[in-house]
Amino acid sequence: MACGLQIKDEDSGYNKNLFCIPKHYEEDIERVFIPHGLILDRTERLARDIMQDMGSHHIVALCVLKGGYKFFADLLDHIKALNQNGDKSVPITVDFVRIKSYCNDSPTQKISIVGEELSALNGKNVLVVEDIIETGRTMKALLSKLKDKEPKMIRVVSLLIKMTNQSPGYRPDYIGFEIPDKFVVGYALDYNEYFRDLNHICILKEKAKEKYKI
Ligand code: HPA
Ligand code: MG
Repeated sequence: MACGLQIKDEDSGYNKNLFCIPKHYEEDIERVFIPHGLILDRTERLARDIMQDMGSHHIVALCVLKGGYKFFADLLDHIKALNQNGDKSVPITVDFVRIKSYCNDSPTQKISIVGEELSALNGKNVLVVEDIIETGRTMKALLSKLKDKEPKMIRVVSLLIKMTNQSPGYRPDYIGFEIPDKFVVGYALDYNEYFRDLNHICILKEKAKEKYKI
């Protein structure tokens, strides 16, 4: 069974003053939770594991927007590096879906999936690339839609999975980090569209949640 780098409940991350944070967010960040460099190192290994399992046929990499775009770009860079330096290589094509299921720091009841036709997935090996899986509800909805396109194989990689009481036990095939039940931002994860432009994954101050509330 897939297992990610585990970050325990009592791990509070790092003093933000020891890292570079954009000026416009300095007041909003409580701690740096996962530094950018560590994200990239873990992503490099995920790329290797994925290519070992899936690397014998054309892969369609499906990015779940918006939160997945940084992880998607960096993961594909590592996969490309393996493709250009290894004995074997496979073509990768890309596709995108957009899903919205969060308002403020809570999931909304309504999951909206906006996307392409996705008919190009028929008969292909599909790698779904997601930023974070919390309840698994969104991923289950997406997977049932994708299965209608009759791909040959579907694998899911998520940079983060959150350990919550309400989690119904959905686990993706590949996991970057397993994190406690804390709201995180940065590296394309947002709070009401803010903080995507932050390199590190960080914990917000409570007063920042008020400031950007809608
Ligand atoms: N941060 C940002 N987006 C999210 C989170 C989170 O902690 N959980 C689910 N979507
Ligand atoms: Mg997401």
